[in-house]
Amino acid sequence: MEKSISEIEKEALTRLENTTETEEIKELSLHYLGRKGVLTKFLRNVSSLPENERPIAGKNANILKSTLDIAFNNVLKELESTKDDNVAGIDVTLPGRSCKRGSLHPITQISNEISDIFLRLGFDIAQSPEVETDYYNFEALNIPKYHPARAMQDTFYISENIVLRTHTSPSQPRTMEKTDPPVRIISPGKVFRCDSDLTHTPMFHQVEGLMVDKGVSFGDLKGLLTTFIHQIFDNKTSLRFRPSFFPFTEPSAEVDIRCVICRGKGCRVCSRTGWIEILGAGMVHPAVFEKIGYDTDKYTGFAFGMGIERIAMLKYGIDDTRKFFENDIRFLRQF
Ligand code: DAH
Repeated sequence: MEKSISEIEKEALTRLENTTETEEIKELSLHYLGRKGVLTKFLRNVSSLPENERPIAGKNANILKSTLDIAFNNVLKELESTKDDNVAGIDVTLPGRSCKRGSLHPITQISNEISDIFLRLGFDIAQSPEVETDYYNFEALNIPKYHPARAMQDTFYISENIVLRTHTSPSQPRTMEKTDPPVRIISPGKVFRCDSDLTHTPMFHQVEGLMVDKGVSFGDLKGLLTTFIHQIFDNKTSLRFRPSFFPFTEPSAEVDIRCVICRGKGCRVCSRTGWIEILGAGMVHPAVFEKIGYDTDKYTGFAFGMGIERIAMLKYGIDDTRKFFENDIRFLRQF
């Protein structure tokens, strides 16, 4: 026989001590304990030993066999458990997973931009409810029941006298009821109408503006809106005031800007007119002041209301309002 049991034992344990890989240990186990392994061969050859040596050699070989078997299994188990630790645990050498940052919705961004401009011009921001009474949405704005102006603002009724507001104009009477002049507010927010096509969504956003004081004139309104348009677009954008009708202002105007896409040459966006309507405005109707109890001999004021989507579409070159509310992340991510 080539090697004695003690030699085999010494060699096997030394090799085991220097092994750190599961696969290597499995190979070692096969090498010593497998069907063609060193110890198996040793046991097979015991019969060739002198008769008096056979029992001891057989016994020792069997003891070593089970010793090695236990040793290999223990080391294997230990390796398995530390491997589990690594998988379940944290590899501190990897870079951390960054969390994806969101961004403000484009309508929120434009709304904030508009608010910032008016805040710099000395206006405050007034909050006004989205679920509104018929009184503030219509009556207080000189739109009595059955007035034809109501037809243009068909909305969602919660009950006979409660509606989803059709415009941000109710912020006017609500603010004036709480404050004496001078008043200088804007009020941005959501509004609702039974409307849905390429340029209309049932929910959209407006910003209302109201200024009341002694001696406020249409000239002040023109100056303020011109300053605003120059800041939100650029200094070259000119404005045009067209006579119009709103029950709560007299005189009333609709305000157009020179098309910011074609600069007035005429394109699809401005229906080849060179102009784009962006807001309604006018001098506050005395009937509105009277309902509040403001002295119409002492005070005058102007008001305006504009659509935020319209401004956002012009600034970003978007042709379909519905895109803002479809929540397609590929669209929203661009802003
Ligand atoms: N509320 C009107 C609308 O939604 C817009 C408007 C027009 C607001 C004239 C005003 C105004 O404050 O003076 O169509």
